[in-house]
Amino acid sequence: MLKDFFMGLSQNQFLNSAAKKYGLKLGAQSVVAGTNIDEAIKSMKELNAHGISCTVDNLGEFVFKEEEAIAAKENILNVIEAIHENNVDAHISLKPTQLGLDIDYTFCRNNLREIVDKASRYDIFVNFDMEDHGHLPQTFELLDELSLEYDNVGTVIQAYFHDAQEYLEKYKNFRLRIVKGAYKEPAEIAYQDKQEIDANFIKLMEWHLLNGKFTSIATHDHHIINHVKEFVKKNDIPLDKFEFQMLYGFRKDLQLKLASAGYNFCTYVPFGNDWYGYFMRRLAERPQNLNLVAKQVFNKKTNTIIGVAASAFVLGRMTKNAKKKRR
Ligand code: FDA
Repeated sequence: MLKDFFMGLSQNQFLNSAAKKYGLKLGAQSVVAGTNIDEAIKSMKELNAHGISCTVDNLGEFVFKEEEAIAAKENILNVIEAIHENNVDAHISLKPTQLGLDIDYTFCRNNLREIVDKASRYDIFVNFDMEDHGHLPQTFELLDELSLEYDNVGTVIQAYFHDAQEYLEKYKNFRLRIVKGAYKEPAEIAYQDKQEIDANFIKLMEWHLLNGKFTSIATHDHHIINHVKEFVKKNDIPLDKFEFQMLYGFRKDLQLKLASAGYNFCTYVPFGNDWYGYFMRRLAERPQNLNLVAKQVFNKKTNTIIGVAASAFVLGRMTKNAKKKRR
């Protein structure tokens, strides 16, 4: 119920544009590394100083206009330049819809190609984040096309899909990030039960560690992390074959602990004005993250309280209509 509520909020375009104007609020600053590239670079340098690499996401949502997709492309090109200039240990994560996949496939492919081309010149990897199942075939198609020319590309396998293993085997020679899956998907194609999703995650992760190129194990779940530690030890899997990934601002102690224990660790660093949908999806995923909001409300400014109240009011009305499934 709460999950659907926040998912509904994440799709509210009115609140989304309002949020862009007012900067980071509602506690989002705890999980979004600033609104501009300078702030993101600063955060990444801090993480690098702890031996943590980064994958940086210049947040973007609801892109249905060509000029917005082009602006997103320009921003990502600037991020690549900034990573290079600042000598930061980081790569790019992006969403194909941000670059125009909902507008036109070829238009999106051309935008992506420019990004991948520039990144390849600086030896920077580009991850195509995986969105909902409606965008999945075309995201793999983009990967197929661009990997004919470039080898600095990879993507994500979502463990909630029944056919995830097929994709994993087909793309085993790519650097792959394994996640549980963040979108609300129908039962005909995706496991709904947490135990089934977790079991499939473990199966996929073990298979790719044994047979694949490089595995990014993206989860905050300490049960899975402990399982990975045992599995790699038992199977003599070298530490340079995999990394753990978590989102910026979550389980910071565990992030530092894993990095200092000698595991490769990569933090997903989102930044930008378009933080609202990302933040609401994190609340949908784990309502306990509301603590982040509560801390802001009780410790900081009144305008935050007003922001929370306004959101709750408008969004409360929206829950009824929360039919769309984007997360
Ligand atoms: P999950 O939410 O299942 O929690 C499992 C357990 O872990 C909890 O019960 C709790 O014990 C513990 N736990 C979790 N969070 C905690 C916290 N903050 N503090 C304390 N304990 C906590 N999805 C997608 O569809 N496409 C994508 O491209 C990506 N990309 C991506 C990158 C990275 C780096 C990450 C970490 C995640 C993604 N995701 C994603 C999101 C992913 O699919 C998934 O929705 C979330 O990671 C939540 O699932 P978890 O496995 O993290 O734990």
